[in-house]
Amino acid sequence: MSRTVLVTGGSRGIGLALSREFARRGDRLLWASLKAQEIEDGRRALLADHPDAQVEGLPIDLSAPGTPEEVVNWALSRAERIDALVNNAGFGAYGLSKDIAFERERAMIAVNVSALHALTRAFIPVMEDAGGGSIVNIASNSAYQPAPGLAVYAATKAFVKHYSEALAAELKEAASPVRVLTVCPAAVRDTDFKTDADMAHIRTFDSIATTTAEEVARDIVRGLETGKDFVLTGAAMRRSYLLMKLLPAPAVRWLVRRELAGV
Ligand SMILES: NC(=O)c1ccc[n+]([C@@H]2O[C@H](COP(=O)([O-])OP(=O)(O)OC[C@H]3O[C@@H](n4cnc5c(N)ncnc54)[C@H](OP(=O)(O)O)[C@@H]3O)[C@@H](O)[C@H]2O)c1
Repeated sequence: MSRTVLVTGGSRGIGLALSREFARRGDRLLWASLKAQEIEDGRRALLADHPDAQVEGLPIDLSAPGTPEEVVNWALSRAERIDALVNNAGFGAYGLSKDIAFERERAMIAVNVSALHALTRAFIPVMEDAGGGSIVNIASNSAYQPAPGLAVYAATKAFVKHYSEALAAELKEAASPVRVLTVCPAAVRDTDFKTDADMAHIRTFDSIATTTAEEVARDIVRGLETGKDFVLTGAAMRRSYLLMKLLPAPAVRWLVRRELAGV
């Protein structure tokens, strides 16, 4: 039976790569993304590879108040049940927090944190009533430690990681049929994220631990299919992380600063 998957930011980058994986499995897709043109371009790209794919999009600014509720109403008007929700829409801003426009940081917190939280809260009861479902929350490897140069972005992703992991445990203990998968992608080489965040010149996108949107998508689907509740995406990142666990905290902080410096 075909499942319906709601992906925020499904029209490009990681969201589009993940949508290709779902389409390959015959799943129907609902996208909530910022720009109508990106939705149209992403839809055309998806259909070129999967001509039978079912995909509909809602152009919406998730940084604006009340928009997560609009997404919930729209999705439930399109499908009887939502089998999976992927909270993927998000963006970053590189620089000194004191120099970044306040409105840009406010919008980042609204999209990366508030919209993710509102959509997660709204779909838990919907999925429980329907007998089950999966919520995939995209954090980042920036979630592990404070990151000067990415202060607010890393803090939003720390929220996503802590909240989602705790929620997964709570739902499991309560025997809820809803599961939560937390995803921490390494720096992705081939999406627009780094340019939009003014980070194209930053070392981390050039390091040995980078990944691609396709690898992130494959790791997420494998995580869902094998019942994981946490995925650190990218084989190179997983190897680096094992090494980092052996280092003392000051050495890790030094490495993070080095990774976030320009090349
Ligand atoms: N790229 C990385 O290195 C990396 C690493 C770790 C985690 N992540 C996380 O992975 C997720 C996806 O990143 P990506 O690399 O695929 O980035 P991307 O290519 O820039 O795509 C971001 C997506 O989010 C949507 N979006 C942004 N602001 C929005 C808003 N205000 N309202 C609604 N939708 C909005 C965009 O919609 P439009 O297409 O309409 O513009 C786009 O589809 C993000 O949460 C990011 O923080 C990325």
